[in-house]
Order: sequence, then C-alpha cells, then structure tokens
Amino acid sequence: MQSDIDHSDDNGAKQATESSQLATAFSAPNRLARRSFLRKLGVGAALLAPGAALLGNASKAFAANGGQKLTRGDVAILQLLAAAELIEADLWQQYNELGGVDAPTTGYTAGLQILDGDQVQYISDNTDDENSHAAFLNAYLKSKGEQQVDLSRFKNLAPSQVSFVPQTGRLTNLKQLTVDTSWWTRYRSPTNPDFGATFPNAVPSLNTGQHTAIPRNNAELDDPNNPSDHVKAIAFTAGFHFGFIEQGGTSLYATLAQKVTSLEVLRILLSIGGSEIMHFQTWQDKAGNATPLTDFDPINNSTVTFDDLTTGQPETLQANLIMPEPCEFISPNLPACAIIRPSGPGQLDARGGVQTPRCGLMPERGVFAKTSVEKEQLQRRNCGKVPPLAPMRMISGNKIAPNQ
Ligand SMILES: [Fe+2]
Ligand SMILES: [Fe+2]
Repeated sequence: MQSDIDHSDDNGAKQATESSQLATAFSAPNRLARRSFLRKLGVGAALLAPGAALLGNASKAFAANGGQKLTRGDVAILQLLAAAELIEADLWQQYNELGGVDAPTTGYTAGLQILDGDQVQYISDNTDDENSHAAFLNAYLKSKGEQQVDLSRFKNLAPSQVSFVPQTGRLTNLKQLTVDTSWWTRYRSPTNPDFGATFPNAVPSLNTGQHTAIPRNNAELDDPNNPSDHVKAIAFTAGFHFGFIEQGGTSLYATLAQKVTSLEVLRILLSIGGSEIMHFQTWQDKAGNATPLTDFDPINNSTVTFDDLTTGQPETLQANLIMPEPCEFISPNLPACAIIRPSGPGQLDARGGVQTPRCGLMPERGVFAKTSVEKEQLQRRNCGKVPPLAPMRMISGNKIAPNQ
C-alpha cells in the first residue's frame, strides 16, 4: 500500500534519506528509540508508506484532518495493529478464495459446511472485516499525518496451486501450519494465563508436524458430494485455525487498549477489538463440529486426528461450552469472572515479545506464531528477523513501552 498523501510541492523532502526523514519526524531525544523501532520492523522505513515528503506534509495532513496529534505510543500501537490486520487479511483472503461464497463448490467447501452450513458466508464476511480493519487503521494513521504500514514487499510466498486461485505472492502460507489449539481449553478452564496457567491442546496432533488448511492442488478439491477424509481433515484444520487467528486478535486488542492515551484511539481499539471477539466466538462455535477421523498427509508427512468433541468429553473439551468460563482476574482474592484472556502484561505485549523463547513468540501466545510468515520468512533471516512479525515485538525490542 503506497501513501497517497500529496507531496508534489515538497521537492526538498523528496531527496531526503531515511535518516533525515526520521530526524525531521521525531525530536532529538526520541530519535534513537524511533530508529531502533524501525529496525525492529525489519526493513526500517521501507516497510512503511514511502515518501520522505510524507513526513514533511505530516502537519498539513494533520491540520486538514483537524485532529489532535497522536502520542508516539499511540502511533506505534496503531501501526502494529495495522501490520497485524494486513497479515490477518492475507490469511483470510486465501481462505476466501477457496472457501468463501464466491469459491466453486468443492469437497473442501463441503468439508467446511460440515462445521456449519453458513461457514462459507462467515469466511467471506471475516475476510471483508479484516480488509476493513487494515484499511481503516492505515487511513486513520494518514489522517493524523502519520506513516501507514505497507507489507506488500513481503508478499512473496507461493499460494495454493489450485487452478482458480490467483497466482500472486502471499504474506502467509496456509499449507504448512502447526496449529496451537490450546485456546479451546483455555476458554473452558477456570484458570487464567495471566496468572501463569497453561492449557492442553484440544487437537494435539495439529500442534505437531505440519498441516495444510487449504487444498494445495486441484486433486485436493475433491468431490463436493462425497468429500474424502483427507479433504475433510484439511477443512477441519482450517476450522481450528480460524479460532486460533481470532483469539489472537481478541487478546491483542484487549492488551494494547490498556496502553493508549487518546480516547479516540481507545475507541478504535475497543471497537475493532470487539469485532475480533465476534469473529472468535463464531469460530469457536464451529470447530467442535468436526467429525471424528484420522488422516495422513504424504506431502507434509503428518497425521492429524479429530475426535468427537460433541459428546462424552470433559468440560475442558466439550464443544458446546462456548461461553468463556469464569476465571481468575486481576486478583485471586476477587471472584472468578468471565473475560477475554490473556490481557495482562508479559504475553501479547512488549514483555511477551522479549520473554517468549521461540523467536520471540510462544506458540500458545503468539498471535501469528504459526503462520508461514514465521516459518519461511523467518528462516530466511535467521530467526528473530521476521519483518511482518517484527511490529509485534517493536515495543519490546527497543525498550519502549507505549506512551512512555
Ligand atoms: Fe482484524
Ligand atoms: Fe480478525
């Protein structure tokens, strides 16, 4: 996404280097920290909407909007969320191409509809929502004279080879997922990760090996009237990955909302965050409808087993227990409370980025830790330098807490 802020009258700024952009943009005491922040983004200013004049015109755009200048912390949070939303949008776009309302009827869509008859509609609507989140956050940043986030240069991963899928580069790879399904048991447990609780996986085999959540070729589209267990397994993997994606957004917004200064930015985070919660709740009501099966995938050399979660299960697995179980919150001396979790420090915020051992993001905590963005782009850059994920760690990496 390129900035479309008009800078035609700012020829001097067009010649500026990244250093001078930053020097112009930020006051001296903040300069080092901001440059460090940009390095943590992986590619510095190149990741953000280009154009030195954008900074020169910041005050102009700001004045035109009539708004109030945002704090550095609020801008950083909004940019982080814009990056997260661009990644979400990339994930959902791929699901939409193969499983949305405009996708051909296939064994894959039939498998998705085992989870819910309206599943393809929900996929398309979730995709629309993520695109709107990313577009809104970037437009809001622009309206405040701040830099937008652009991840388009990282769209270089191969899509599905299914014939009707556009062969354009993607940010994420849905063909080699290791899906953490502990969110399922977390929300059915009376304990809270903010107090150190950990949770078993609902589908342990998805949390090991690699699994595709989309058909990789035409053969995996299969018969819509009689989908094979293999294609159903792909659809059910998607069903649990949907919940994984959205539980991450649910906690991310709840965590970062506590760090913003502006009431308007708080309104944005609470309102978009609420949308993420709606997504999560939808998907966690569907994944448990997976029918029991075991499938071996020769391409990824992995086996997945889905058990019947609808009957005969303990409460930590029971499919219809979709409302959040009350749990510890704030203090163990207070009554249990039904809440979004985690939302405390050290998990999805700066400290979490530092403390997590696996390239900065623990599998059960990292919002996007199981996407191929981590697996592939990270491998290219020696663990810990994943450009699209770097915003998740930007606050921690340079020791800047929001609004400090
Ligand atoms: Fe979103
Ligand atoms: Fe979302």
